Amino acid sequence: MKCCCAANASQLIAIATIAFMAISTGVQPAHSANILGVFLSPSPSHLIVHMSIMKTLAERGHNVTVVTGQKPKVNHEKIHNIIIKPAEALQREMNEELAGLGAKKQSMLEMLTRVITADTVMFTIQLDVLKNERLQEIYETNYDLVIMGYFMNNFQWIVPAKLNCPMILSWTGQPMEMINELVGVPHEASYVPNVFMPYKKGEVMNFSSRLFNLFGSTAFRLFTSILDISLAARYKELAAGDTNIRTYSQMKENVSLIFCNSHFSEGPIRPLVPGIVEIGGIQIKDKPDPLPKNLADFLNASKPNGAVLFSLGSNMKGSNVQPATVQIIYKVLSSLKQNVIWKWEDLSNTPGNASNILYQKWLPQDDILAHPNIKLFITHAGKGGMVESIYNGVPMVAMPVFAEQPANAEKIFSSGYGLQVDILNLKEEPFREAITEVLNNPVYRNNVRSFSKLYRDRPLSARENVLYWVEYVLRHRGAAHMQSPLVRMNFLQSSSLDIFLTIIVALYAIWKLLKWALKGLRKLICLTIGKLKPKQSKKSKKE
Ligand SMILES: *[C@@H]1O[C@H](CO)[C@@H](O)[C@H](O)[C@H]1NC(C)=O
Ligand SMILES: *[C@@H]1O[C@H](CO)[C@@H](O)[C@H](O)[C@H]1NC(C)=O
Repeated sequence: MKCCCAANASQLIAIATIAFMAISTGVQPAHSANILGVFLSPSPSHLIVHMSIMKTLAERGHNVTVVTGQKPKVNHEKIHNIIIKPAEALQREMNEELAGLGAKKQSMLEMLTRVITADTVMFTIQLDVLKNERLQEIYETNYDLVIMGYFMNNFQWIVPAKLNCPMILSWTGQPMEMINELVGVPHEASYVPNVFMPYKKGEVMNFSSRLFNLFGSTAFRLFTSILDISLAARYKELAAGDTNIRTYSQMKENVSLIFCNSHFSEGPIRPLVPGIVEIGGIQIKDKPDPLPKNLADFLNASKPNGAVLFSLGSNMKGSNVQPATVQIIYKVLSSLKQNVIWKWEDLSNTPGNASNILYQKWLPQDDILAHPNIKLFITHAGKGGMVESIYNGVPMVAMPVFAEQPANAEKIFSSGYGLQVDILNLKEEPFREAITEVLNNPVYRNNVRSFSKLYRDRPLSARENVLYWVEYVLRHRGAAHMQSPLVRMNFLQSSSLDIFLTIIVALYAIWKLLKWALKGLRKLICLTIGKLKPKQSKKSKKE
């Protein structure tokens, strides 16, 4: 008996050890799956996030193929890349679109209408890839799973529809209206601020904020529904002729899960369904890669005062910023005691040649932010860079331009991770003050560092989460059991409005009925009294 127990215990330990090794050393999965990635968004920073997922899967031993419109910066030697470059004219239009955004600040309404109009390029640049004949060879291969980047591009569901295999989406931000409905995350406008709302940790929204938020997210959902009509039309176009193919609305109920590049510790706290898997920071390496020699030497030599990293991200080119603003930035950065790494595309035409500034066309941003001598990150407050900075405990000065950047910058400021300045209206003194304050006041660094600890504290790392859930969907052929019924309900049903309406109608009917009954009763009583009355009155008259 005793002996038997001992054998069981040692067996258990052996199994546990193997299981642990399988997770920690990334040995080959029992079954190597054929996985296809389709990433159509023209933004390089989106591709970095998506490719980090695919790289994790390739490292694990899966057979990974990727279709994309640009050469990926994150890659793996075993990944088969099929790069379908957009036509030059489209690319130019796209660049002009992005360049135009740097020129002036936009209101929320302007931005929304812009999204609708910019859709023309955003759409065609993505549709072009899907219409390319090279996709034919994809459709002739058997895939076990498709992973697709979400970017208002639901027409891309044509790919899993043709391949008849499960799909997973990858979204580069936190859960929001447009993706919530695909897996049935409840819309909770009373306590979950939408992406355009300023967010304060732990804040209970007051009446006006809730009013604004309800209007904001309802408008967002309305916009999504309107957009959906044209997305469905594009899908139909792509499916042309194929009568066996599933319809757009059938595909809408076919999303297995969505990877979100967010983590609840960033807030806002919200209810999630199992179909949302948070992999915030997937693009950050567990251990930084060695830096290119010139950068390593430059940073290592930045000893007592440290160094500053300045980048406006991958969409904004330095030349998109007004020349006068560039001169102000140069004047301030060149006068710092710190060394500065400045992301600048045109190396033959730099803003100035101060000895403390190193211009670089492209930067291994998270490897640089992991360097111990980096003291400050001056950023456009894009999601990716902000997370990398926070992960590495580096405080920031934010210069937001468009989209979700102003909200991110507000978050940096309100969380005490740094300060923000207005790049479209940049003045020398406030810019210098913001930089010196964040460099010299330890409060910002301490705040970022303590949050960094929270952000990294998870049961499974972002990579382990990707592996677990991808293989879960593979094991259970799409894991349809996980889907929330909310996906298949319309607005009236999900908000219980149909119930409330029924109750109101019922109450009204009961009220009418009661009133009618009372009227009848009174009539009856009157009648009875009336019959009695004459006698009584006669009697009383006599008396
Ligand atoms: C891996 O994927 C490629 C490209 O899609 C395909 O041609 C090849 O047959 C796959 N290999 C295996 C072993 O399935
Ligand atoms: C989506 O469709 C595929 C292929 O028919 C199926 O295997 C998968 O289970 C479906 N996924 C969901 C969530 O219904």
